[in-house]
Amino acid sequence: MSIQTVATTPFAGQRPGTSGLRKKVAIFRQAGYLENFVQSVFDALGDCAGKTLVLGGDGRFHNRPAIQTILRMAAAHGFARVLVGQGGILSTPAVSCVIRKHAALGGIVLSASHNPGGPDGDFGIKYNIGNGGPAPEQVTEAIFQRTESQHQYRISDAPELDLDAIGSTRIEAMQVEVIDSVADYADLMQSLFDFDAIRALFVGGFRMCFDGMSAVSGPYASAILEGQLGAPAGTVINGVPLEDFGGHHPDPNPVNAAQLIARMAAPDAPDFGAASDGDGDRNMIVGRRFDVTPSDSLAVLAANVGVAPGYRAGLKGIDRSMPTSCAADRVAEALGIPCHETPTGWKFFGTLLDAGMATLCGEESYGTGSDHVREKDGLWAVLFWLNLLAVSGKPVQQIVSEHWARFGRNYYSRHDYEAVDSAAAAALMEALRASLPALAGQRLGQYTVDFADDFAYTDPVDGSVSRQQGVRVVMADGARIVFRLSGTGTEGATLRVYFERYEADAAQHSIPTQQALAGLIAIAEQLAGISTRTGRSSPTVIT
Ligand code: G1P
Ligand code: ZN
Repeated sequence: MSIQTVATTPFAGQRPGTSGLRKKVAIFRQAGYLENFVQSVFDALGDCAGKTLVLGGDGRFHNRPAIQTILRMAAAHGFARVLVGQGGILSTPAVSCVIRKHAALGGIVLSASHNPGGPDGDFGIKYNIGNGGPAPEQVTEAIFQRTESQHQYRISDAPELDLDAIGSTRIEAMQVEVIDSVADYADLMQSLFDFDAIRALFVGGFRMCFDGMSAVSGPYASAILEGQLGAPAGTVINGVPLEDFGGHHPDPNPVNAAQLIARMAAPDAPDFGAASDGDGDRNMIVGRRFDVTPSDSLAVLAANVGVAPGYRAGLKGIDRSMPTSCAADRVAEALGIPCHETPTGWKFFGTLLDAGMATLCGEESYGTGSDHVREKDGLWAVLFWLNLLAVSGKPVQQIVSEHWARFGRNYYSRHDYEAVDSAAAAALMEALRASLPALAGQRLGQYTVDFADDFAYTDPVDGSVSRQQGVRVVMADGARIVFRLSGTGTEGATLRVYFERYEADAAQHSIPTQQALAGLIAIAEQLAGISTRTGRSSPTVIT
């Protein structure tokens, strides 16, 4: 065994996006591509001697070879110890949990989240810092700068390691510990939620369906729901992580989780349905013939936080990303706590959580979480809902309807136009930005524009500024349309258009969502010329 220095050339375009570096597998398989990025991460970290690194991924195609490479590179950079999930498996929230619990320097997550996997699918790599959360922009930018001039990397020539047997081995002077992928995470969940109450719920005949979408959360859900909480075998479907996610798109929304939605609409539907995404950080909550929007889910959990033992002390604040609906703001107001509005991406929540300014966080994109880790956490949200269902004894739909009756309903929808021509999408956003100064005061349909801007954010903790985080057109009554381009796609551009309007009157809470938002949808077309500019007459996905 010896440490080699290998000459290489820089690769263009290794700038991390909303959540790490994501590219097609074929790109990651080019000689030196992964190595250049990892070398740049280690360069940006500086002295790694004596430190601990956490390593794992969502099990998608290329996970195992990438882990072998990173282990050999970590050994060449003097890490004292790497904790790697058995079989290379660690969900994103589990990485966050393990980093925090074992006081690691940071961790590397191999995932492209909900993007399809397999030889023709996507792969991704993300660095998380010592608080367990995604590296902030200063760090990802420093990594990117290094990638642009990377001419060599250091790697041990050690042979492949057995990732499937739990235990400890060495590469060079570095200790490699293959750890149980679930244990630390399961312990944390048990400390937060009332497992006895949930167990009693299942004993009473409560039925649930959890769709693991053939991705990473299957082993976690099987161990916790069926193993520890006594849910009957078969509660978890698609529970084995597959390299290509069984050909499915592991993004939990009503469109992709069609099997679960069909089951929840059947005459003998279970009481509760849930799904998680490729790397286990997203969640979808479903009742009988009733989907809960992620924005509503955040608000409902915030309003009922006292049911969970880990949150009895109450909330310090709530964080939501700007495009997420304002439903949580109403709960925060009632609780007398702050609600922070941040740009899209979980990395913006880290400073607020570390500073003790918030406890719960959420994004409209099926992301919910809290200060227990520094990532969004799919199974955590599902367990929180189970805890709530167990304590309240009410069905999902009733809980949400009662919430709307108390706080009012924020009708909400997101329209995605996927894989559109990048230049056309950029031109659309440019034209929108140019039109912003003239919009205030204009009458559009039944609405009057209060203000229109391109969202800019100053982090209240570290003062860092992020601009161009989404064009928003906000009406006098608070209704709004937000336009932004995705930072996670790998094909062309994805235009996301978000719609929201508030309805206080409970008699008006049963309008189909798209109908309730039809006025705003027409205005978006009028303002942005979506169909002419993209050539698309309708969105690819509506959630
Ligand atoms: C999307 C979501 C965003 C989420 C991110 C990572 O990013 O919109 O809320 O944090 O995935 O899961 P986008 O593609 O919109 O940049
Ligand atoms: Zn994810």
